[in-house]
Amino acid sequence: MNGKILAVANQKGGVGKTTTALSLGAALARMGKKVMVMDLDPHACASVHQRYYPDSIEHSVYDLFTSPEENWMEVWQKIRYRQEAQIFDMVPASIRLSELEGDLRDRPGKGGILKLSLELVRNDYDYIILDCPPQLGLLQINALVACDLLIIPIQTDFLALHGLKLLFDSIRLLNKVLPEPIRYRALPTMYDKRAGACRRVLELLGKKMGDNMFKTIIGIDTRFRDASALGKVVFDVDPECRGAKGYELLANEIVALL
Ligand SMILES: Nc1ncnc2c1ncn2[C@@H]1O[C@H](COP(=O)(O)OP(=O)(O)OP(=O)(O)O)[C@@H](O)[C@H]1O
Ligand SMILES: [Mg+2]
Repeated sequence: MNGKILAVANQKGGVGKTTTALSLGAALARMGKKVMVMDLDPHACASVHQRYYPDSIEHSVYDLFTSPEENWMEVWQKIRYRQEAQIFDMVPASIRLSELEGDLRDRPGKGGILKLSLELVRNDYDYIILDCPPQLGLLQINALVACDLLIIPIQTDFLALHGLKLLFDSIRLLNKVLPEPIRYRALPTMYDKRAGACRRVLELLGKKMGDNMFKTIIGIDTRFRDASALGKVVFDVDPECRGAKGYELLANEIVALL
């Protein structure tokens, strides 16, 4: 196996990054794929959602960033968790990730830590999904440098388009130093076909992104909130609901893509 690394990023908050990371992870795992989801957000929403509470877990992705390279394999053994009934491995986040910029101030090659360390475990998986924080910074840079595909969830709302320039500025900057440009696809989320504004944003997004947009559109569905309140993914709440079907289609699209 040569696991494909998918980063889910958009520096705008609340657009569906964490929902996408977990639901897509579950959809791929339900197809029989081996999946790991990594929470790179100091707020640890994905971890808490999956019932890994930063106060009670001993090891997190923070350990990877702050350990010397020779200890990475040992760290990987400790930070990959799987509880009963979970269908993918989870690497939880820690609040200490918020101090990472300062902690790694003098570390050379700090933007490439995740990429290098993932080389040690990517053969264990078909897909590795990185849930990014809603800020541009070292964690997001590590994810963009490491990924084979960047998934950009975009809420189908006019203001959501507004913040995209910042993300594309950082992609352009990274592309100047990376061996290959970052491959990306926009994912429209929280789409309500009854709302004219949503339809207009989708049309605009299609024009802006061209081929760099998924065919799948994730519709608005209250089941996502129900699922997170229960610490479950949407498939466990209602595998037939619109939201679950959306992520199933996305998983199929991704498997066909890479
Ligand atoms: N398609 C959808 N339909 C309805 N609600 C959704 C949908 N996708 C996500 N949500 C809800 O919207 C809220 C924000 O989603 P989520 O946490 O995935 O966003 P995020 O981009 O990860 O946020 P943050 O930037 O804070 O990390 C959550 O309550 C989630 O349940
Ligand atoms: Mg999130």
